[in-house]
Amino acid sequence: MPRFPGPETPIVSSRTANESCWPGALTGRSVIRKHQCNVRASRRSAPFRRCRLKSVKDWRVGCLFPLYANGAVANIQILLRMDKERKLIVAGNWKSNKTNSEAVALVMDLIRELAAVKEVDVVVCPAFTALSDVSKLVLGSNIRLGAQNLSDSVYGAFTGEIAPGMLRELSVRYVILGHSERRQFQKESDALVAKKAANAHANNLIPIVCVGETLAEREANITEMVVETQLRGSLAGLTAEQVESTVLAYEPVWAIGTGKTASSAQAQEVHAFIRKVLVSMHGEAIARRVRIQYGGSVKGSNARELLQQPDIDGALVGGASLESKGFVDIIKNSI
Ligand code: 13P
Repeated sequence: MPRFPGPETPIVSSRTANESCWPGALTGRSVIRKHQCNVRASRRSAPFRRCRLKSVKDWRVGCLFPLYANGAVANIQILLRMDKERKLIVAGNWKSNKTNSEAVALVMDLIRELAAVKEVDVVVCPAFTALSDVSKLVLGSNIRLGAQNLSDSVYGAFTGEIAPGMLRELSVRYVILGHSERRQFQKESDALVAKKAANAHANNLIPIVCVGETLAEREANITEMVVETQLRGSLAGLTAEQVESTVLAYEPVWAIGTGKTASSAQAQEVHAFIRKVLVSMHGEAIARRVRIQYGGSVKGSNARELLQQPDIDGALVGGASLESKGFVDIIKNSI
């Protein structure tokens, strides 16, 4: 009989009821005790309840299995979060919004509202002009700083470019690369994104590499081909270790700023595909450690369902990150 998988059991995500585990006569609580997880069961009407296990080390799986609860068999969907290796990461991409003083006001609100959040890596990515002041404010808080672009070179005669050392001095940790807006308006290619990603890693910055198809590409049924090409091209030349620490963001272009979110099933399907491509590039162990954010009209009302998907490890948020309540709601709803 397959046993209920434990932290020591390496399992890739997205197990289905057919292939998943059978806990036998264990009750939900004993499963929980056995694996030392915290569980929060939302109050759904029997026989369906949804549980969420947190603090499970080293692996992550969504599985369906019958659970004996109060003498009745209930189907329980358990989502195990691989906290250690795939901690959720929610980043606000402020794009070309917010003056320095507006950015300062927003981040002060966020620091106050999110002070207790430990379960999620929270990142804000203001415009370059606000990085210096925002950097001073987030120092010592649980909010990390990201930038929205990076040069593919270091210091030198590259007018208008931002060198990695300039970001490092401001304690910037993350840098968004290959966003569809830059691919579209600045004509950034996968090869350029790969050079920038290598530059980021060489200088201790974590790239958030974005991929995603347009509406025409989705309608032409070439989403997977487009995403795979972008992924392989944008990660070309990175070592397995560099890929492992890279954050990926799947942002379907048709969902960005349109209010049209991909359904959680649509998003999960592409995220699982991305992980499959990662397996073929660098093997299973690396692939299951890479965090993949979803981006495209994420808001408080849809964050929970999206982020509960087994291969969705966070969100890259545009519009809803521009006011504190919107961003805070997303983070609180994702915990
Ligand atoms: P919206 O959340 O405004 O759709 O933007 C998503 C995005 O582009 C984040 O990088």
